[in-house]
Parts: sequence; C-alpha cells; structure tokens
Amino acid sequence: MTDRIDTVRLGPGQDGPEVGVQGFGAMGISEFYGDTDEAAARDTLDAALEAGVTLIDTADIYGNGANEEFLAPFVAAHRDEIVLATKFAIERDPERPAHRGVRNDRAYIRKSVEGSLRRLGTDTIDLYYMHRRDPSVPFAESVGAMAELVAEGKVRHLGLSEVTGPELREAHAVHPITALQSEWSLFSRDVERSAVAAAAELGVTFVPYSPLGRGFLTGAFADAGKDLSPSDFRRFQPRFTGENAERNAALLDPVRKIAAAHGATPAQIALAWVQQRAAVHGLTVVPIPGTRKRSRLAENAAATRITLTDAELAALEPLAGLVAGDRYPDMSSTSAAREV
Ligand SMILES: NC(=O)c1ccc[n+]([C@@H]2O[C@H](COP(=O)([O-])OP(=O)(O)OC[C@H]3O[C@@H](n4cnc5c(N)ncnc54)[C@H](OP(=O)(O)O)[C@@H]3O)[C@@H](O)[C@H]2O)c1
Repeated sequence: MTDRIDTVRLGPGQDGPEVGVQGFGAMGISEFYGDTDEAAARDTLDAALEAGVTLIDTADIYGNGANEEFLAPFVAAHRDEIVLATKFAIERDPERPAHRGVRNDRAYIRKSVEGSLRRLGTDTIDLYYMHRRDPSVPFAESVGAMAELVAEGKVRHLGLSEVTGPELREAHAVHPITALQSEWSLFSRDVERSAVAAAAELGVTFVPYSPLGRGFLTGAFADAGKDLSPSDFRRFQPRFTGENAERNAALLDPVRKIAAAHGATPAQIALAWVQQRAAVHGLTVVPIPGTRKRSRLAENAAATRITLTDAELAALEPLAGLVAGDRYPDMSSTSAAREV
C-alpha cells in the first residue's frame, strides 16, 4: 500500500505526538488469538509503517513480557518513526496462571516501567498507560507516580484504560492524560455512558481497543467454539461461545449489507463506524485493530477512507444493544463495573 493514512495529534489541545489516525495493536502476536507465524507478524509491522500506522500498542502483560520483547528489534530500527505505547497494572501469579491482580501502587509502577523499558530496548516510552484501575489506590498516588516518570524522562505522555468519565476527570487533575484506551466497537458501547463525554470535554484522545470485537465483527465467527485453536482465549469469551455466538453472528447482516454497498469488508465497516461515531461526540480517536497479516493491515488502514451515510449509521445503531454475552467472562475490573 503506497497511500499513507491521515495523521492526528494526540492529547489535550492536540499538542501531543503526531500519529496515523489508525494505530496497531500488537497483543495478538504473542497471546490470546492462537498461534503466530513470526515472520508474517514482522512483515505486518513493516506494512503498518508503510501505511502510516505509527501508534504501536503493547503491554507488559501480553505474553508476560514476550510482546514487548518481540517488538524490540522493530523499535530499534524505527524508534523515531513510531509512537510507542505500553501499559502496566495487571499482575500475573506464576502459581495461578488464570489469576489476574491489579496493582496501581507507586512501588509497582516504578518497578514495572523499568521492566518495560528493558524489554522494549528503549530509554523512553512515548505513552504509558495504567491498564486497569485499582479503586483502592487514589489517583494522587498512581497518576502521581506516573507523573514522576514523565519528570524523569522515562515516559513522555500518560494514558489510562478502562476508567469511567468521573475517574478520567479526577486523574486528569493530577497530571494531563493524553489518551484513554478502552473497548469501543459496534458491539461494545458502554464507554458511551460517561467516558466518551469526559474524554471529549478534556480533549483526551480516545484509543478504541478491540475495534473489531476481537475479530467477531469481521464475520468469521459464526461457530467460534468449534473453529478456534486450543490456545485461543476466545473459546471462553461469552460472546464467542455457544448460542451467544450464533445469535451475535446473525446481528452482522446489516454490517455485511453495508460492506457490500461500499465494496468493502465487514471489518472495514466496523472500523469506519468507530471513527465516525467518535466524530459525533466531537472526539479524536485512534483505533488500534490487531492483525498478524500484511493483507489485513492494508485492508484495515483503507477503512479510514470510508464514510458511512446517516442511513447506514442508523442501521448499525441498535446492534450493541442486541449483543448476547458480556465482553469479558469477568467484568469486575472494567469501567462498566464501576458505572452501574
Ligand atoms: N487496554 C486493554 O485492556 C486492551 C484489551 C484488549 C486489547 N487491547 C489492545 O487492542 C488491540 C486490538 O484489539 P484486539 O486485538 O483484542 O481485537 P481486534 O483488533 O478487535 O481484533 C483482532 C482480531 O481480528 C482479526 N483481524 C484483524 N483484522 C482483520 C481483518 N481485516 N479481517 C479479518 N480478521 C481480522 C485478527 O486476526 P489476525 O491477527 O489473524 O489477522 C484478530 O483475531 C490489541 O492488540 C491490544 O493492543 C487492549
């Protein structure tokens, strides 16, 4: 693909770094979505740069550090061409593989950043996110500790993930928050309860994660339980299993119809939708679809050029309300759980 996507500046006053209007989610390269062909994944990263997809998203928890390590050679080769984002806060216990703890305390943050810097092979992280919120730790401590990292030059900008609107405002008062990364897609719209409005008001860039509904919105998962490899965590995702998967697959008919009208794919319509839905809220967004295939990278980047009509947006409007199953088996650490 020779056509580069448009760019936007991150953060309040849009005075942050310039990135392509679509970013790249690296998570699936190391974990969660089945086996990865490493050479193809590296080629996909190259395709991202060629397309102008420059916001590269990882986290210390993805593959337990392996995703950051995987990215290191790419980071070394292209440090000045990319905006590198990673995250802390989710802690694994080697004794209990399925267990996830959330840590927001200062000591943990200071230790985590050193690990990410080492694995990524860089001396500065462009955008450092708190991956999950532990409500027992005040933002004065957590965002305060993140702000220390900015002052020390280890981190350039701060982000949060899965926080509510009121939490975003509170955190932003401690130190400016550049980006909010939460799940937002045709099938997952709980962020529109409060987080979206707060981000728009504060000028915080919204980074929608899983904008393809973890692949479901591409239309590939009518009977997910059967088709997925044993290492694919979607086997246990409420939306991908049993009757829910069948019901949810049927919801994609309007997406397919609209895709056909545009000569596009359902994935592209899902990506165009989140971009346009954000514009309705007066919000800058940089969705970060994840893929391990060059052809899909180009397909996803091309979605930034699609404009849906009002009638198409209206046809897509009811979908999220009809989805069967939560977006996680355990919703307790999501913003939605604190927003009832
Ligand atoms: N902050 C958080 O808590 C959080 C949570 C989840 C994810 N994230 C971030 O968000 C990123 C994106 O989310 P995600 O990876 O969960 O989900 P996603 O982007 O919604 O979907 C990824 C899935 O869709 C497939 N796919 C991508 N483009 C496609 C296309 N054009 N046609 C058909 N299939 C396509 C991918 O398969 P292939 O790889 O085989 O192409 C993969 O299985 C992650 O990589 C991660 O960086 C953040």
